[in-house]
Amino acid sequence: MNTPLRIGILGFGTVGRALVRLVEAESERLSRQLGVELRFVAIASRALTRKPAGDLPAGARIGEDLLAVATAPDVDVVVELLGGLEPAGPLLVAALGAGKSVVTANKALLAARGTELARLARDQGVALAFEAAVAGGIPILRAIRESFTGDRIDAVSGILNGTCNFILTGMARTARPYPGMLAEAQALGYAEADPAADVEGTDAACKLALLARLAFGQDVPLGAVRTEGITRLRPVDFVYAGMLGRTPRQLGIASRLAGGRLLLSVRTHLVSNESMLARVDGPFNAVQVSTARAGDFVFTGRGAGEIRPRRPSSATSSRSLAADRGPACRRSERTLPSPSRPRAPPASSPRST
Ligand SMILES: NC(=O)c1ccc[n+]([C@@H]2O[C@H](COP(=O)([O-])OP(=O)(O)OC[C@H]3O[C@@H](n4cnc5c(N)ncnc54)[C@H](OP(=O)(O)O)[C@@H]3O)[C@@H](O)[C@H]2O)c1
Repeated sequence: MNTPLRIGILGFGTVGRALVRLVEAESERLSRQLGVELRFVAIASRALTRKPAGDLPAGARIGEDLLAVATAPDVDVVVELLGGLEPAGPLLVAALGAGKSVVTANKALLAARGTELARLARDQGVALAFEAAVAGGIPILRAIRESFTGDRIDAVSGILNGTCNFILTGMARTARPYPGMLAEAQALGYAEADPAADVEGTDAACKLALLARLAFGQDVPLGAVRTEGITRLRPVDFVYAGMLGRTPRQLGIASRLAGGRLLLSVRTHLVSNESMLARVDGPFNAVQVSTARAGDFVFTGRGAGEIRPRRPSSATSSRSLAADRGPACRRSERTLPSPSRPRAPPASSPRST
């Protein structure tokens, strides 16, 4: 076996703990597949020494000095799981500057400073990996980067926020009003106590900006994404939608217009009950990539929004993070639409509310 890959973690909350649990539970398989042993050498997070030691890996240094872990000489890869812009941004700049490869699930930071961080990583000859930042369980970023190079992507669209999809599919099924469905989502761990980023559409907008940047190779400022939340939908909207053979879904859509300009939005659309998007139920995500020659590809699966304590799928995001670690895992994956499965409509076809 080669020398181990030495990992430092910044932020030890929901995803950090799930990541350590997953890597420790599957260490043999991961070592075999990646060709290298993954070893946690240092973890820094707020008040960590005063919290229960559950899930802390044996042998790792535990502390609160984030910068020390980000730049530690014995750390090869820094995994950032703090969230937010500060102090995560400056810490990643320091880590990349110190020649560390970085793995992050921080879509807000990537949407705000992704281009700068990617440039720094390139200049330093290290990796910046962020597969878990969009649609946690679906390997969509890698597919966009690697599997469509022979074609031109004209649009990327889909259901990017599992919390919103859980609420909307619940409202459609039960005719309950928005506040009741939000309360159920929170009780089941599908929504945060403060659900604003999910239900106001900013979480999906960050993901769409990242998808669009990769698909179209252009800088996509978050402010360019027209964003509307789902909070004003009422049960009667679902009744009228049903009369039209449609159902409300929050969709993120990024499409390239003639001339290269991008059209970017996150808002509620009425999608046909016959479409594949209408069948994406509960907290699941779906991303459609529309290409000039090969047509449409739809990727569905568990979204990052489903990763909460107590959920059986809590390892989805950490699985993406684990897969981000080794060159041996940089396989491209593509889900071909099966002939027996109806395709989602083209990005432009859902009728807007
Ligand atoms: N959870 C998900 O479903 C999910 C899925 C995909 C991606 N993500 C992304 O993964 C990242 C982590 O999410 P999470 O759910 O694991 O968050 P979390 O549970 O809040 O964990 C964040 C951890 O970082 C610590 N922390 C935050 N700011 C800090 C600071 N300034 N100094 C020291 N420690 C600090 C927090 O300490 P305290 O506990 O003291 O606040 C907490 O332990 C985020 O970028 C999120 O967007 C999350």
